[in-house]
Amino acid sequence: MTDYEENKSINKPFTLFNNETGQSIEIPILSGTEGPNVLDIRSLYKETGMFTYDPGFTSTASCESSITYIDGNKGILRHRGYDINDLATNSDFLEVCYLLLHGDLPSPTDKIKFENVISNHTMLHEQIMDLYTGFRRDAHPMAIMVGVVGALSAFYHDSTDFSDINQRMIACHRLIGKIATIGAMAYKYSVGQPFVHPRNELSYVENFLHMTFSVPTEKYRLNPIISKAMDRFFILHADHEQNASTSTVRLAGSSGANPFACIAAGIASLWGPAHGGANEAVIKMLEEIKDIKNIPEFLNKAKDKNDPFRLMGFGHRVYKNYDPRANVMKKSAHLVLEELNMLDDPLLKIALELEKIALQDTYFIEKKLYPNVDFYSGIFLKSLGFPTSMFTVLFAIGRTVGWVSQWKEMIEDPINKIGRPRQLYKGKNSRNYQNVDSRDKRSIFQWLWKK
Ligand code: SDX
Repeated sequence: MTDYEENKSINKPFTLFNNETGQSIEIPILSGTEGPNVLDIRSLYKETGMFTYDPGFTSTASCESSITYIDGNKGILRHRGYDINDLATNSDFLEVCYLLLHGDLPSPTDKIKFENVISNHTMLHEQIMDLYTGFRRDAHPMAIMVGVVGALSAFYHDSTDFSDINQRMIACHRLIGKIATIGAMAYKYSVGQPFVHPRNELSYVENFLHMTFSVPTEKYRLNPIISKAMDRFFILHADHEQNASTSTVRLAGSSGANPFACIAAGIASLWGPAHGGANEAVIKMLEEIKDIKNIPEFLNKAKDKNDPFRLMGFGHRVYKNYDPRANVMKKSAHLVLEELNMLDDPLLKIALELEKIALQDTYFIEKKLYPNVDFYSGIFLKSLGFPTSMFTVLFAIGRTVGWVSQWKEMIEDPINKIGRPRQLYKGKNSRNYQNVDSRDKRSIFQWLWKK
């Protein structure tokens, strides 16, 4: 029995009745292994001549997936059934990469094999390095990352036939291996320091920190506490169900676009301040607050419907409880600030006080607005010496494995088809064409030409 037939046997259909026409249709209800059931509306337009309407997709499941499960009300996040707290405590980032890609945690031998495979993909083609010189030194590192990742498809023709499982896996391994190098080099380029090539005897995260912070003039000392905290940061950002950037990757991939171009599209989407750009925006907000005594003024701005200001790092489309990643991020930030003797960091003090006051404020309580993963990640990253412009680059390095895993799952999904949403049309009805001489003489550009 197929999944579909099995679902039909478990769930009685949902009957939709149109009072005006007397038409009623039966909509199958499908169940997953966890989470809300779905109304299977694939035949709705054919049967009713109507579309559903859901801007922002607040009530829409766009696909089937087995990678990540989120319960927003309970603040639960699991990857392939493993709780994020267990993974952040007991696994390392490459193990989580293997888990997201292949569905299970690696055996001891597979763990070593996978680490070697990824290590062998950390180098960049010399001509890709030349691409960086085409950017201004003050270019935002995210602009560089979008450009360089998109350009990867120009270099790897042998892994863009993704109907072949081997080429599909090579593309995934290349993206996971190279994204850290691309990000580190975007940083080096922005500060005018020479690129540092990857060293395969280092772990994935140690390699990234070495490529980012080492300089030719002295030996770079890795701090195991910092390396572990950075590894945990990448685990927390690895995947998060069908968020905006992952949905962008899936939609781009549904047309058959090559995986490198799809991930570049995901990076572009992540850059927005409402999404992955929030960690950078949180720091700017805390710096603007400047002093704990100014917190009430900013909370009032956040609550003012007429003020576009929002409390960055607060709220989430899915979590109506504390984002489980925010808790781990908060502990990591505290651990690193303690290691670096920076517990008196003024931004940390403002963040802790802001969180305390907001969580007691009826506006935030009623709207179920809690700190999300970005609220503490900015403080953590700033304490490691990253400029704020690098924060979303770091988010993208962690999230690349989620994007490629979701892309791979979509390509391998037998019911995969090109994504093509419809619309509620609110434009002009049909009207007759007018030649330019017979048109209204007034110009809509008056403000431009002051006529
Ligand atoms: C990420 O989707 C993911 O999984 C994303 C992510 C991932 O890992 O991929 O988790 C990463 O993007 C985390 C979110 C980072 N963004 C921010 O921290 C930016 C600040 N947050 C908001 O912009 C907002 O909370 C969103 C964008 C995160 C969620 O917005 P929604 O789901 O569209 O919610 P909404 O805008 O409909 O808000 C509901 C109400 C509104 O008030 P009303 O119109 O009902 O009166 O809550 C208010 C909003 O005005 N609100 C806020 C607020 N967030 C929502 N008010 C003040 N400050 C905020 N931060």
